[in-house]
Order: sequence, then C-alpha cells, then structure tokens
Amino acid sequence: MRKKIVAGNWKMNLDYNEGMALFSEIANMVKDEITGSQQAVICSPFIHLNSLVQLAKGYDKIAVGAQNAHQNESGAYTGEISAKMVKSTGAEYVILGHSERRQYFGEDNQLLAKKTDTALANGLKPIFCIGETLEEREAEQHFDIIKTQLQEGVFHLSTEQFAQVVLAYEPVWAIGTGKTASAEQAQEIHAFFREEIANNYNQEVADNTTILYGGSCNPRNAAELFAQADIDGGLIGGASLKSRDFLDIVKVFN
Ligand code: G3P
Repeated sequence: MRKKIVAGNWKMNLDYNEGMALFSEIANMVKDEITGSQQAVICSPFIHLNSLVQLAKGYDKIAVGAQNAHQNESGAYTGEISAKMVKSTGAEYVILGHSERRQYFGEDNQLLAKKTDTALANGLKPIFCIGETLEEREAEQHFDIIKTQLQEGVFHLSTEQFAQVVLAYEPVWAIGTGKTASAEQAQEIHAFFREEIANNYNQEVADNTTILYGGSCNPRNAAELFAQADIDGGLIGGASLKSRDFLDIVKVFN
C-alpha cells in the first residue's frame, strides 16, 4: 500500500514566529484529529526547518521538508542552501522542480536531475513536481511535456533511488488560480504518470509510487480528488497557510 501524504508548501510566507505558531497549531490538530496512516508534511522556508523538526518530535504523523536545495554539495554559491544543510536540520523531504522554480529561476530538467541526485545522496526524499502550462495543455502537448519531465528529471534513477521519490502533478494553470483540475483531468494524468513509471521500471514500482496532486486543492475539492485511484494526496499551497483548512484536507484520509 503506497503512502498517503498531504504536504503543505508555505512558499515564501510566514516570518519565524508566524511559522512556529502555525506549525504548533497544525501539529496539535494532527495529534488530535488524524486517525489514519496518512502523513502530513510541512515544507517551510529554511529559517523554520530545525525549529519545526524539534516541534514535530512529539508527533509521528507530521514531517518537515524544504522547498529547494542546491545541486552541488557545497561551495561559493552565495545565498544558496545545500542538501546537506537541509538534512542537518532534521528535515526529511525537499520539494524540487516546482513550477515557480522553473519559471522564476530557470530550473530545467537537466538541473533538476542533478538536484534530485544530490538530495538523494544526502538522505532527503524529493517531492518532484511536474506539470504543464495552460498553453501546453491547450496545444494538447501536456502528455509529451509530462513524459519528458519524468524521463529527464527522475527516470535516470535506480529502482532503489526512485523508491525514495514522491511525485507531484501540478498543472501550472491551477496553481494559485483557484482553478483546480477536475478529478477526471487529474486522475487521467496521474494514471499516465503511473503507466510511464511502469514502462520505465516495472508495475510494482509504479504501484508503490506516491503521486500527489497540487493546484488550488482545498477542503471543498480534496475528497473528490483524493478518491481517485491514482491520486495519493496533495501538495497544498494557499490552503496550507490556514491550519483548519490544511487539517480538513489531511483528514480526508481518515
Ligand atoms: O506546491 C503547491 C502549490 O504550488 C499549489 O498552490 O495555492 O494552488 O494550492 P495552491
């Protein structure tokens, strides 16, 4: 049975105290309200990571992740954060390939493959984001785009390495827009992910891969999305900044 995960991506929000306060609220709600085997993950800015890890120590159903890590082990890259630094905070996950990193920081599949290798080499679990733009979907290129992002981003990994990877389908046109992919649209792409994984590795690897949906997921649409056969949870942006909304999404798997 593949793991069910609901991950919150706080993006560039919440100062130190705001982050600590929100995480404490979420962790207490997770402790009191989560009855299933699902895992909640909070992916915060680097400033929060170690403190959130300390707060999470009392709760086995909530983990912490970063939102990025450099492809090199160390060096003269002013302002950058290494995978080793992320790991040293006690964080378990790292988001890679988010469309905002691809769009605003020019991260392409080749760079993201290197970031994935370095994250895995440092014991982190990548949450690797893949998705098409509205133009690509309207041009009916979305399957090709997704196949290429899989092939160039993560399909070079060994079976053992790939087992550490969580995938996230994030249609760019649904991120932050309030325009969510329909459950049918999302399931179609998630099933395509799984088919491509089976082709590249084997059916067992495909069946065991956690594939999250991200893009305007909220308490009102999460249940229909997560009921889909190939959707194993969500990568939540805006709704993860409100503790009740985020917990109502996590509770879908109770
Ligand atoms: O990484 C998740 C994020 O991109 C989705 O954002 O605000 O549409 O839930 P949002």
